[in-house]
Order: sequence, then C-alpha cells, then structure tokens
Amino acid sequence: MTDTTSNAMWGGRFADGPDAIMEAINASIGFDKRLYAQDIRGSRAHAAMLAAQGILTDRDAEAIREGLLTVLSEIEAGSFEFSAALEDIHMNVEARLKTLIGEAAGRLHTARSRNDQVATDFRLWVRDQCDAADAGLRALQSALLAQAEAGADWVMPGFTHLQTAQPVTWGHHMLAYVEMFARDRGRLADARARMNECPLGAAALAGTSFPIDRDATAEALGFERPMANSLDAVSDRDFALEFLSAAAIAAMHLSRLAEELVIWSSAQFRFVALSDRFSTGSSIMPQKKNPDAAELLRAKTGRIMGAMVALFTVMKGLPLAYSKDMQEDKEQVFDAADTLLLSLAAMEGMVRDTTPNRPALEAAAASGFSTATDLADWLVRELDLPFREAHHVTGTLVALAEREGCDLPDLSLAQMQGVHGGIRADVFDVLGVHNSVASRTSYGGTAPANVRAQVARWKEVLG
Ligand code: ARG
Repeated sequence: MTDTTSNAMWGGRFADGPDAIMEAINASIGFDKRLYAQDIRGSRAHAAMLAAQGILTDRDAEAIREGLLTVLSEIEAGSFEFSAALEDIHMNVEARLKTLIGEAAGRLHTARSRNDQVATDFRLWVRDQCDAADAGLRALQSALLAQAEAGADWVMPGFTHLQTAQPVTWGHHMLAYVEMFARDRGRLADARARMNECPLGAAALAGTSFPIDRDATAEALGFERPMANSLDAVSDRDFALEFLSAAAIAAMHLSRLAEELVIWSSAQFRFVALSDRFSTGSSIMPQKKNPDAAELLRAKTGRIMGAMVALFTVMKGLPLAYSKDMQEDKEQVFDAADTLLLSLAAMEGMVRDTTPNRPALEAAAASGFSTATDLADWLVRELDLPFREAHHVTGTLVALAEREGCDLPDLSLAQMQGVHGGIRADVFDVLGVHNSVASRTSYGGTAPANVRAQVARWKEVLG
C-alpha cells in the first residue's frame, strides 16, 4: 500500500481519501466498538479454522491468536485508540493487529468478508442480550411471586374499563404479570434458538473457494450449525428484529404494570406505597412523592418500540444481499437492549419495594357494588332464576342501594324482598368480598386456593 490518504484496508483502487462528511456518515466505530469482544472471538475461531484446514500456517495462526488477545486486553484496559478513518470495529481491530504482528494480520481476512463478520458479531451480541433479558425477566417474576405469595388472599377490586368489576385477590393480580413475563421469556427463547446459526464463512455473499470448515467455526462460537445459504447469511437481520419484537412486547407489559403503579400510588387510590428508593420529591410541593421510575419505564417503552419500527423500516426495501443500510441496525438494538435491561431492573426493584395498603385495597374491593355478580349468581343457584332475570333483579337492587347511598350488603332483607320475594337472609353470605373471591375456584380463577396452587407451581418453575 503506497497511498497514504485512501483507506488502508480497501483503498487499492482509490486515489483520494474520503470527504470529511463521508467519513462522518460512513464510520460506525463510534457505536460498533461495543462488538469488540464478539469480533475478536469470531476472528479467533476463523483463524483457528483456517489453520486446521491448512489455509493458514500454524505460525501465522499463532501470531494472529496472540495478537488478537493483545488487542482484546488493550481495548479492555481502555488504551486502544479507535479511529474513525478505519470505519468500524472490524477494521480497527485488524489494523491494530497488523501493527502488532505485521504481515500475518493480512491473512486473517482470507475466506471472509466484513459482511459475514458483522453478521456473526451481531448475532453473538444479540444472543447474549437474549440471555441477559431472560435473567432480568426471571428476577422480576420472582419479585412478583413474592408479592403474590404474601397477598394470596388479600382482596382488591378487579377492574374492567377501570370501573370496579368484581373483587379479586392481590396474589392473582400479581400472578397475571408472572404469566405475561413468562410469555416474554418464551418469545426470547424461541428467537434465541432460531438465531443460533452461524453466518461466518458466507464471505461477501457467495461463499468462498477456499476449503473452509463452517461446522468448525459454528461450533467454536456456540452456534447449532452454519447458515445454509450464503446470501441469506449476510443479509438476514431477522434475529435482531425478533429480539426487538420480543423486547417491545415485554416493554409493553412493563408499561402496563408501571401504569398500574402510577394509578395505585396516587392519593385517590392509595392501593400501594412506593418506596423512597424508587420515588422522587417535588422541588416546590413538599408533600409530593412521585412515581418517577414507573413513569420513566412507561415512557421508555416508546424507545424500544421505536427501535423495532426503525429496523423494520431499514430492512423492508433491501435487495439481497448486504447493503450499507444494514449498518443502521446496531444503534437501535443497542439502545433497545440497554433500555430493556434497565427497565427490568427498575421494575424488579419497584415491585420488591412496593407495600400494598391492605385496608385500602379491601375497602375499595367492597365498594362499587363489586359483589353484584355474586348476588346474581346466588339468584340463579338458589332460586333457579334464568341468569338474564337474575341480572335484572340485581340491577334493580343496585339502583336501590345507589338511591339509598349504601352498598349492596347494607340493604335490609326487607328492602331486598321488596324487589324479589324469594330472597333469603343467607344471600348476605355471598355479598362479602372474601366469600366472593373464595368462591371463584374455577381453573384460572381468583380464589386464594388457586393463587396458592399457582404460587407453588411457579416456585417450582423458577427454582
Ligand atoms: N460496519 C459495517 C456494518 O456495520 C460492516 C460491514 C461492512 N461491509 C461492507 N461491505 N462495507 O454493516
């Protein structure tokens, strides 16, 4: 290489170096340096395979291996100088390797391209994020499970349309989220299994004429198998999209729980007290304790969903195989992964620290005619009324209680019998919220017995 201004890696046919603006728009090193460990791991696997196949001499392979370890420790020590002129992590590492070991460094890129290299690095990185997100989700499930166990029989209002519907148990409500986060874990596990194929060796797009062993590199990097089609291998970003999709759904779940915490911790609800550790004060209103962590978590969902839409938009019009557009995949995924992990940790902390206000929950559960359905069911069961008629009788009783300014259990037997003569005193048993939830023993129902059984099951699953 005689030219000093054109790129040292690919500048053979170039007389001129890039415009400063070109360098600014082209360089990805500012963000893809995060892939350094994966990049070096991939290069080590590639070099070892080349040597095993007789494509590299053992001497060169050993020099490359040692050099790459030095680069790794330099980056980890913070002494590595990243260069925008060298565009990306792949060329930064290779250029440094050349300085360290000389000519042998130039042989590392045999039978490989940055296209399969970046696809491999990024898959390894996203695969790690699937594992990290799974651990975060699991920890959050444990926190919810502890709440469910403590409050298996605490009653609270269950809502539809955010209107009091029927009493439910605190434990049942917590377990609803345990189920949601279990599905998130399932989606990540599915995505991880599907992404666990190795693009390395697809080279630029068509494969290579060198006698490489793709099974060996796939195995060395912990992949199940090499990807079967070289064009697909370098142009596929489904793995990132699947991760983002799973992350977006998990973030939506986090946002719903965050929204509940915001509502529940308000002075109007007082269902829970958030801890000082996850709240902030107001600089002007001394009485305030704001649920900032929950609010931020609710908002951060937008970043994760935005990342998903951004990458779908990048990919949707790309012809096969690699296009530089795909360099725009990384920042979105990096930000979404960071945001998701932080959100999961914050939610876990909030859930662990949240103190349910049991008396307030119980009082709210008993208000708003929450046992009207129990009354209608009693009329069906005990008086053999058709459900539609029972519904109507109960509605009349609710209207009566509303006029009287009381709740259903506060009506006298005589008042009830004025609406339907068959009503007996034992109807009052089903109007209590504890009896109401205890009766909901159908599979998946809110009864404390069900909650305890599900808590036991989840304890086993989560270990
Ligand atoms: N920095 C590039 C990216 O992130 C690496 C691949 C570049 N390949 C190429 N043919 N220019 O996508």
